[in-house]
Amino acid sequence: MAERVPFVAGNWKMNFGPAMASQFALALRPQLEALTSRVEIALCPPFISIPAVGQALDGSSIRVGAQDAYYEDSGAFTGEVAAAQLAGLCDYVIIGHSERRQYFGETDVEVFLKAKAVLAHGLRAIVCVGERLPERDAGRTAAVIRGQLWSGLGGLEVSEFERVVVAYEPVWAIGTGRAATPEQAQEVAGLVREELQRMFGPVSRKTRIQYGGSVNQANCATFFRLPDIDGALVGGASLKEQEFVVIVQSCAQVAAGV
Ligand code: 13P
Repeated sequence: MAERVPFVAGNWKMNFGPAMASQFALALRPQLEALTSRVEIALCPPFISIPAVGQALDGSSIRVGAQDAYYEDSGAFTGEVAAAQLAGLCDYVIIGHSERRQYFGETDVEVFLKAKAVLAHGLRAIVCVGERLPERDAGRTAAVIRGQLWSGLGGLEVSEFERVVVAYEPVWAIGTGRAATPEQAQEVAGLVREELQRMFGPVSRKTRIQYGGSVNQANCATFFRLPDIDGALVGGASLKEQEFVVIVQSCAQVAAGV
C-alpha cells in the first residue's frame, strides 16, 4: 500500500437533501481537512446535493463524488444526469454500485459505457464489483469478479484506467452488518489486482482498491492493514459524523504506520 495514497469515500446513498448535506459537510470539514495529507477523502451525496456540498467544501482538499452518471451527453433521457453535466461539479463518480445493478437493472455493458463517459469528461471513476451470496456459496466469486472487471473496464485505455478506483463490495456485506472477514477481503482484492495487472500491466500497482460492505469504526482498521486494500467505500457509517471521522483517522494512522 506504500506506493498508493489510501482513499476513503462516503457513499451517502439516497440521504441528505441540500440543506442537511451542506450542514453535514461543514461539520465534517475541519475534522477531515487535517487528514487529507495522508488519506484522500470524498463525500458522495445524491445529485441534488452535489452543488451544496461542493460549496461547503470549496477551498478544501476534500473531494466530492456522485453516485452514478449517464453516458450520453444530453438528450431525451428523462431522469438521468449526464457525466458531461457533472464535470466541474464533482471529482469522482461511483459507477456500477450493486444497488444500481440490483434495483435498476444496470448491466456490465452500461457500467463500461458510464465509466468511459465519466473518464472522457475528466472525472475519476470508482467502479464497484462484488459477488452475491449464492455466487460465493457456489464457489463462483473469482469468476464473477473477473467477469465484472473485464466487461466493465476491459475496453478502457491505460491512460483512462489510471483515473479508476476499484471498490470491492461483496453484495451480501452491504447494509447487513455482516462485513467480509479480512481474509475474504484480501483474497478478492489480491485477485482484483492480479487481474488488473493482466489487463493494464504495471500501472495496476498504483490502482486503489477499496473495500466496502458494513465498514464501521470497529472493523475498519483490519481492512486498512491488508496489503491489497487501499481504503474503504463506506455506506451507513458515513452518515454518522463521529464514526466517519474515526474511520478516516484510523486509515490515516495505518498509512502513517501507527
Ligand atoms: P454499508 O457500509 O452501509 O454496508 O454500504 C456499503 C456501500 O454500499 C458503499 O457503497
